[in-house]
Amino acid sequence: MLIIDGKKVSLDLKEELKASVDRYRAQTGKVPGLTVIIVGQDPASQVYVRNKAKTCKEIGMVSTVIEMAADTSEEHLLKTIKGLNNDPAVHGILVQQPLPKQIDEFAVTLAIDPSKDVDGFHPENLGRLVMGHLDKCFVSCTPYGILELLGRYNIETRGKHCVVVGRSNIVGKPMANLMLQKLKETNCTVTICHSATPNIAEYTQQADILIAAIGKAGFITADMVKPGAVVIDVGINRIEDASTKSGYRLVGDVDYAGVSAVASAMTPVPGGVGPMTIAMLLKNTLQSFQRTNGL
Ligand code: GUN
Repeated sequence: MLIIDGKKVSLDLKEELKASVDRYRAQTGKVPGLTVIIVGQDPASQVYVRNKAKTCKEIGMVSTVIEMAADTSEEHLLKTIKGLNNDPAVHGILVQQPLPKQIDEFAVTLAIDPSKDVDGFHPENLGRLVMGHLDKCFVSCTPYGILELLGRYNIETRGKHCVVVGRSNIVGKPMANLMLQKLKETNCTVTICHSATPNIAEYTQQADILIAAIGKAGFITADMVKPGAVVIDVGINRIEDASTKSGYRLVGDVDYAGVSAVASAMTPVPGGVGPMTIAMLLKNTLQSFQRTNGL
């Protein structure tokens, strides 16, 4: 079985992005800038934001983190976003989710200039993706990272049956729509399953490419997978493990031990899809910089 090594691909990609940033700096005197807003003290969000900022700096981009108190008003957040929309040094704006309940997440998504929406959450970007205008949009980072992995591993997708389990706006919906497009890495027949699908196994067993984005540890077991399928595991679930220093470990939505005996290729957790997400965020930020500067 082929292990699809997202860790390695993300390192290659970051090197490529760094080389581009260096080249543009020499050529234009400018570098891409990413501003991340975090509201409140959610520990998981703090880790994500720290990693985004660190990776941004590693590849030579300007990283700005704006920390706001948990009781920040929606009005103040929207005003800050408006300021960033008008700041030519800011090429990417990301507001870390989840947000405190006094703030409407959708209002925040709508407030971000679609040309700086490096998360790809704005309806204009999602709409362009659905309509196949990928050259002018930002694709949500996790689905985009999966596309990059399929491409770099030359996974054949034309005419294949791709089953996506999960229908979130961040992963499931953009992922299914991407796989439906007529691109080198896509061109599939697509089925979407979700929590109200009876007998999910009936569908997953037909998948040539199975993408699991459910959020339940070990949900996909070997009996649910067609022999020879390519299995992409989007899940990041913490489970208790007394043998580790932290007392927990990370596992995916796929039962790795069982499914790896059936699949032809598979992404591990950790080290599969996860590391690709930040890399694609930086790729989107570079893309925004290139579009703004006509590069
Ligand atoms: N929270 C968890 N993942 C993400 C993401 O990709 N973008 C944003 N903005 N918030 C998140």
